[in-house]
Amino acid sequence: MTTTSTPYGTLSPTSTPSARKPLSLPRLREMHAQGEKITMLTAYDATFAAVADAAGVECILVGDSLGMVCQGLTSTVGVTLETMRHHTECVANGLRRSQGVAWLIGDLPFGSYHESKEQALRSAVVLMQAGAHMVKLEGGGWTVEVVRFLVERGIPVCAHLGLTPQTVHALGGYRVQGKTGEAAAALKQDAHKLQDAGAAMLVLEMVPAMLAAELTQTLTHCPTIGIGAGHGTSGQVLVLHDMLGMNLGKMPKFVRNFMQDAGSIQGAMQTYVQAVKNGNFPDNAVHAW
Ligand code: KIV
Repeated sequence: MTTTSTPYGTLSPTSTPSARKPLSLPRLREMHAQGEKITMLTAYDATFAAVADAAGVECILVGDSLGMVCQGLTSTVGVTLETMRHHTECVANGLRRSQGVAWLIGDLPFGSYHESKEQALRSAVVLMQAGAHMVKLEGGGWTVEVVRFLVERGIPVCAHLGLTPQTVHALGGYRVQGKTGEAAAALKQDAHKLQDAGAAMLVLEMVPAMLAAELTQTLTHCPTIGIGAGHGTSGQVLVLHDMLGMNLGKMPKFVRNFMQDAGSIQGAMQTYVQAVKNGNFPDNAVHAW
């Protein structure tokens, strides 16, 4: 295997650097259309981002879950735009210095896109200028017009439906969403409206596997990325610390500890990539909510 010397030590890419083309929106759409699973992990700093990229992870999300895993908060509600800007820049630096190819997504935090479309644009510009290729925001309904406004201005947007952690207090906890017929219908409507508004990716968190699979089949140009949503989505995402078996709280039941049988962090990430690609993760039984 070819190794690459980076500022962080020696990384062993799963394929040679020349074979690894930078991920792009057309490529991600192509993967969705061809049924090739998309892999995503969160990362919050330069080193982990470079290692994930070298392991073959295609999309890196600087998630506002950093509020929990880096800042020790009990929810993502306290995460600020400045914190997200800082960590997005750290990850972008790491990818640049290690000649990474991953698609970089920055999470717009709670309160940074809620006031107006103009506020959302200003916040998105901050993350894009820090190095993000795409921003993510949570929810349906009123966010559809925010998505349209950003997309019209050249900012790729990833939407996020199902369990939306920024509204955990309104939802009454970290619960499965879309379980009733009515809730599932509302979620489907939101997903299609978001796609029509230009959302180029959709995270589905903690929704029934059948609902996620149906959406994945019916959304023609918006890949779905599941977390606790079964294996019928276009791809999977996990919080980095969770899949490495490091969690200050309760481990969600859909998480697999990839570190357990791996000799290294990069090895754990490579196993994750392979497991998603060949359909071994997630385990279908765990997601029959
Ligand atoms: O913030 C985050 O890490 C996320 C993922 C759980 C999808 O939004």
